[in-house]
Amino acid sequence: MLVDSDELSAEGSRIELAADGPEFSIVVPTYKERANVAELVARLRRVLAGIHWEVIFVDDDSPDGTADAVRELGRVDRRVRCLQRVGRRGLSSACVEGMLASSAPYVAVMDADLQHDESLLPDMLRALRTGDVDVVVGSRYVAGGGVGNWDASRLRKSRFATRLARFAVKVPLSDPMSGFFALRSEVLHDTVRHLSAIGFKILLDILASSAQGLRVRELPYQFRERIAGESKLDSKVAWDYLMLILDKTLGRFIPVRFVVFMMVGGLGVFVHLAVLTSMFKLAGSSFLSGQSVATLVAMTFNFIVNNVFTYRDRRLSGWGWLWGWITFVLACSVGALANVGIATYLFQEEKAFWVLSAIAGIVVGAVWNYAVTSIYTWKST
Ligand code: GDD
Ligand code: MN
Repeated sequence: MLVDSDELSAEGSRIELAADGPEFSIVVPTYKERANVAELVARLRRVLAGIHWEVIFVDDDSPDGTADAVRELGRVDRRVRCLQRVGRRGLSSACVEGMLASSAPYVAVMDADLQHDESLLPDMLRALRTGDVDVVVGSRYVAGGGVGNWDASRLRKSRFATRLARFAVKVPLSDPMSGFFALRSEVLHDTVRHLSAIGFKILLDILASSAQGLRVRELPYQFRERIAGESKLDSKVAWDYLMLILDKTLGRFIPVRFVVFMMVGGLGVFVHLAVLTSMFKLAGSSFLSGQSVATLVAMTFNFIVNNVFTYRDRRLSGWGWLWGWITFVLACSVGALANVGIATYLFQEEKAFWVLSAIAGIVVGAVWNYAVTSIYTWKST
């Protein structure tokens, strides 16, 4: 039944409805955190008493049944919500979608593994309510914060990554890598279409993507030890991070994927020459067969490396991998024809300098390869 809004307010029930919504949503990305969710909810209840809060767990279909555990909690407490994503992975995109699922004016993001100090949440909310700040960051590196007993190597890596972040984020921040922060929801709504949403560093992404300078405040906290479950931060994270920084700096002028694709292509040239040399010069096969095999090997090499690095977020496997390889080889063969055709035309018909003719051919072929394989080989779904 449709109810006239005047009628609602006349009855005074609209005000009541408004007061019923959450003021503060805590977004918690989870992957294999079944053992931690109940304890986290218990702690949130304690520290957020007196606040209209809710917690939105965003689970990427964890095989340990984290989503079921969350729904069970939600059955007895409506403030506990579960957003389960099937066939998807990614910390940043999980955080974004969790925040978008909230209708609260303020949202926080925190890990499920109890490493982030939940007692900071009321202070974060208080800071946001003043209206003087847009983003509050839980920081391990301002006075009063800390990382517990990290070994020297992890400390060094974290410091280095923090320094790297300065290139992308204009706001001076001691801990731009923090996974623990809160913001005015509008900040996200304004930037969401500009986010890279690659990898782990959603805070950095938001800060680097926002058009106007955001007012940021850092609050110290002690990063705790993880007790149950294990960290998902591995060597891939470093690569994702580098891609994010590149996308936020260089990416304004030229797509990062294109740059990486070109670098991989450059490596392919060496592979090609190595195969050709060993067949033609060492094993005594004909130039034609050496060149043909070298071309196929270099294409396959490029396909494999691009599949692992350039398109790691759309990585192909199984039959998809085989089909991807076929489309890649076909596309690059056409690219090679275009390359030779254009270079020959410029050199013979336009009397262009031979090096320039060759480079023009290579550029056209490379752009073709990139454009076609980004559509047919690594389709974005
Ligand atoms: N939905 C979803 N999808 N959640 C994920 C995924 C994923 O692919 N990968 C990890 N998570 C969840 C974990 O379940 C956990 O709740 C949180 O994201 C952080 O993952 P950890 O694996 O515990 O990361 P960490 O402790 O090594 O690093 C954390 O702390 C750093 C310092 O604050 C992260 O928050 C980093 O972003 C942060 O820089
Ligand atoms: Mn953790």
